[in-house]
Amino acid sequence: MELEKIQEYVKNQLSDKRYYHSKCVMERSRELAEKYGADIKIAEKIGIAHDVAKEMSEEEKLKYVKDNHIEIDDIERKNTSLLHAKIGKDICIKKFGFSKSMGQAIANHTTGNKDMDIYSKILFIADRTSKDRNFEDLEYLNELADKGIDEAVLYILNKKIELQIKKRAPIHINGIIARNYILEEII
Ligand SMILES: [Fe+2]
Ligand SMILES: [Fe+2]
Repeated sequence: MELEKIQEYVKNQLSDKRYYHSKCVMERSRELAEKYGADIKIAEKIGIAHDVAKEMSEEEKLKYVKDNHIEIDDIERKNTSLLHAKIGKDICIKKFGFSKSMGQAIANHTTGNKDMDIYSKILFIADRTSKDRNFEDLEYLNELADKGIDEAVLYILNKKIELQIKKRAPIHINGIIARNYILEEII
């Protein structure tokens, strides 16, 4: 599906604030695709669509995974906000005709995962550095992103894991798997 149609669909699913975030992630994804030599249109489509399932209710999400035979684990069942990634992937593949790699970027955007390709990495960074975000380490993170895409992904993974530790919250295993994978990529 073309970008304008995807935008229209996403706009109808989300609040103004979340749609604005999605547009900012799309813009940031375009910049990163230019920087790293990836396909700009593909990165933009992934960026605008990544949170398409973010505002479904807990009930809707659990029904969606059941109806569409999506496997979920105990941590996702308890923390259903994580589920918008897997559901988003499914919607994007079925409704927008996303490729497997594009869908996987959406599935990977909350925790990270092994085998993250360029589009998974671009979305992972764009979601943390879009202009609607105001993390105090933004400048530092953008410097890292200039040095290398994997350094920036590693930094974000570390921050996400640190936050879970601070909150005494469970760490999703895919975050650990992603971190081990990126460390291997950097070596
Ligand atoms: Fe998200
Ligand atoms: Fe997001």
